[in-house]
Amino acid sequence: MAPPSPLPAALLAVCALLAAMALLQGARAQQLSPAYYDVSCPHVYDTVRRVIQAARTADPRILASLVRLQFHDCFVNGCDGSLLLDDGPAINSEKNAAPNNNSARGFPVVDDIKAALESACPGVVSCADIVALAAEVSVELAGGPYWRVLLGRRDGTTANFDAADNLPAPTDTLNVLRQKFADVGLDDTDFVALQGAHTIGRAQCRFFQERLDNFAGTGQPDPTLDGAYLSALRQSCPAAGAADARLNNLDPATPDAFDNSYYHNLLRNRGLLRSDQVMLSAPDGAAASTAPVVERFAASQADFFRSFATAMIKMGNIAPLTGSMGEVRRNCRVVNRS
Ligand code: HEM
Ligand SMILES: *[C@@H]1O[C@H](CO)[C@@H](O)[C@H](O)[C@H]1NC(C)=O
Repeated sequence: MAPPSPLPAALLAVCALLAAMALLQGARAQQLSPAYYDVSCPHVYDTVRRVIQAARTADPRILASLVRLQFHDCFVNGCDGSLLLDDGPAINSEKNAAPNNNSARGFPVVDDIKAALESACPGVVSCADIVALAAEVSVELAGGPYWRVLLGRRDGTTANFDAADNLPAPTDTLNVLRQKFADVGLDDTDFVALQGAHTIGRAQCRFFQERLDNFAGTGQPDPTLDGAYLSALRQSCPAAGAADARLNNLDPATPDAFDNSYYHNLLRNRGLLRSDQVMLSAPDGAAASTAPVVERFAASQADFFRSFATAMIKMGNIAPLTGSMGEVRRNCRVVNRS
């Protein structure tokens, strides 16, 4: 008889470790609280809101840019403000990774919020919490739902360039996208709801150009792209290289309003990114678990708003640093000891 394989024991050990890590992560998220700064910095919310209101008059797109920052922060090393760190002796900035380079924006507004909070309550409010608050305030100001932001995250002291490079990409297949969300504890409903953030903001031609003329190397446009919308996009994005950075509304119907028209667009084959449309239109039944959610959110904005708020809180709970872990950065761009 063959000797018992050591594999099951090793597998069990790995499973136990993963379960312990999940428990730890859950326990850390439970330490977050909406009341965290009630005594130490009571006007934190109003301060964030005031700075964003001011920024918005000069740049209406800033609301969208700030919402996106929380996604790109939390998916990389958890919600620890790592995205905000600039290049330094020990920092390979996530800002230069492909999904962020010449794309992620809003950092000067985060700096302004930080400066206002440092003058009101020095050394108290973390950059990771500023990102979470800024996302909520931005959604609200754009007409979307309100939720009580959990607070008490601390800032990381490292960046993770490779993980930032591996953020969900518009050309990932639906299953890869779903897996990247599942990996951080977000289910299909969260995934479909969070992509609804594309109801505001802009995307550069380079992120969807291949859908217009050479979809997946076929030499044809993406068959799941509405004809009239395709023509309009070809006007805006004439050819690869010609207008790579030109901006297009992610929601052509109501570009700056946080509403559920994004899901109506998908039902009409008017999702801008491939990663938007696949939730409804991925071939071979791949969209079986996401298409019904798209339809539900198109039918009910209230349902979308509830699920979006829930999913943003869940995303904000990804591996926070709490207690004496990490630090509260004085400047969001650099770790304190440097
Ligand atoms: C399937 C996952 C996702 C992919 C592949 C994706 C991809 C993209 C891309 C390519 C852009 C355009 C960037 C540019 O042109 O510079 C974009 C913009 C944006 N994304 Fe996503 N995204 C995803 C999920 C999310 C999530 C979860 C959120 C927030 C909860 C979000 C919020 C935004 C916002 C608000 C914008 C507009 C930003 C602006 O105008 O500055 N995205 N996304
Ligand atoms: C980021 O973009 C700049 C300007 O387009 C480019 O020169 C640089 O190589 C890019 N960085 C990385 C890491 O790809």
